[in-house]
Amino acid sequence: MAGPAPAAHENWSSRLAFMFAAIGSAVGLGNIWKFPYEAGEGGGGAFVLIYLAFVFGIGVPVMIAELSLGRRGKMSPPNAVRSVAKQEGRSNLWSIAGWSGVIGAFLVLSFYSVIAGLTLSYMVDSFSGSIDTLDASNSADYFGSITGNFPLLLLWHAIFMGLTIAVVARGIHGGLEKAVTWLMPALFAILILLVTYAMAVGDAASTFTFLFQPDFSKVTLETVIQALGQAFFSLSLALGSIMAYGAYVPRDVSLPKSAFIIAGADTAVAILAGLAIFPIVFQYGLEPGAGPGLVFITLPVAFAQMPGGILVGGAFFLLLAIAALTSAISLLEPIVAWLEEHRGINRVKSAIGGGIAIFILGIGSVLSFNYWADVTFLRGTVLDNLDFLTNNIIMPLGGLLVAVFVGWRMKRISIRDELAPKSEFGFALWLFMLRYVCPLALG
Ligand code: TRP
Repeated sequence: MAGPAPAAHENWSSRLAFMFAAIGSAVGLGNIWKFPYEAGEGGGGAFVLIYLAFVFGIGVPVMIAELSLGRRGKMSPPNAVRSVAKQEGRSNLWSIAGWSGVIGAFLVLSFYSVIAGLTLSYMVDSFSGSIDTLDASNSADYFGSITGNFPLLLLWHAIFMGLTIAVVARGIHGGLEKAVTWLMPALFAILILLVTYAMAVGDAASTFTFLFQPDFSKVTLETVIQALGQAFFSLSLALGSIMAYGAYVPRDVSLPKSAFIIAGADTAVAILAGLAIFPIVFQYGLEPGAGPGLVFITLPVAFAQMPGGILVGGAFFLLLAIAALTSAISLLEPIVAWLEEHRGINRVKSAIGGGIAIFILGIGSVLSFNYWADVTFLRGTVLDNLDFLTNNIIMPLGGLLVAVFVGWRMKRISIRDELAPKSEFGFALWLFMLRYVCPLALG
């Protein structure tokens, strides 16, 4: 089996670097693209409330468990879990909890990159002014013309994967840390500017009613399941990202505190994204429940009408692209760490090889928008199937295994050693959530 892990000997150079990286992983397309439209469809404030309960009641406990496994195992997810299982005298089979992460990250990144490529395409077209003429009648057609253009979509997918590979190939210090230290402050700055602008020119009152006044009549079981899935996705749980990042966390950093900060920041960004988008949507009389097209079809119509829309629209898609990049690197990292460790392939080759394999799989998702749009099986197109498989099967399964292993199979004394809990009540509550509530919800 694998010798000592080269990558895992590295540590984040500071707590702040770890925070930026982990928040960068969590904040992504999930916050800015998915959350607003899901809230739009799921009764606004009602969805937000349910989502909050899941983030803090289930997401945070699982995140603490994942970070602990990563730091204790000090290797890529499959080997980290295997190593902890061994220390605890448990079966090797628990490494499935890490495997599901690596495989899931591979699958998710393949289509995540395609959507991220789409945002790059929109960013360039916004800044160049070429979509400043869109209106309600032709915006959907424009979206169709971009997604229908196979070579174009493929090119942007390649560019985005290239950027992701370039960062991860440079390693923890020279790549990931450096990237997030520049990109995260930029992301926050753009977001604050956009929220301020939207509040000033848009319909703030309708936005507050919409986002914060719960309409429970729109809530169905489906909404609740969607909110749970979204909480997991948005917090980057169960696909190896958080566990892989946990392996590089220095011993003196408090994991529970970190998890709360990451979850708080992630939620704040999701809500701020709503506060940047909906004032504009309402101001221009557009449809808040427009679904996945909200960002790509509805918003450009507003950008085209507003003064300075070229800049505002460009900045918006730049924000989305930055958020996507810092998440994509966290999806490639567990795969690269595993290749390095297990196969002894150096980081540069692992990043390029892994990245190219993901790029190739992603071609299936690119095709789902055009040539293969009518090729459907099981749940729909290739993209629909990958989305379903990862969101509805691999993620809940991975989360469940992590919760059960840490909650039921690790010795109390090991967990205490890892978490150094300051409050007995907090520790007991966490353990209760992890042992009973999380498995129930995920099951
Ligand atoms: N959380 C990111 C987003 O909101 C996506 C992401 C990165 C992710 N790493 C992950 C999702 C791991 C699930 C698991 O866009």
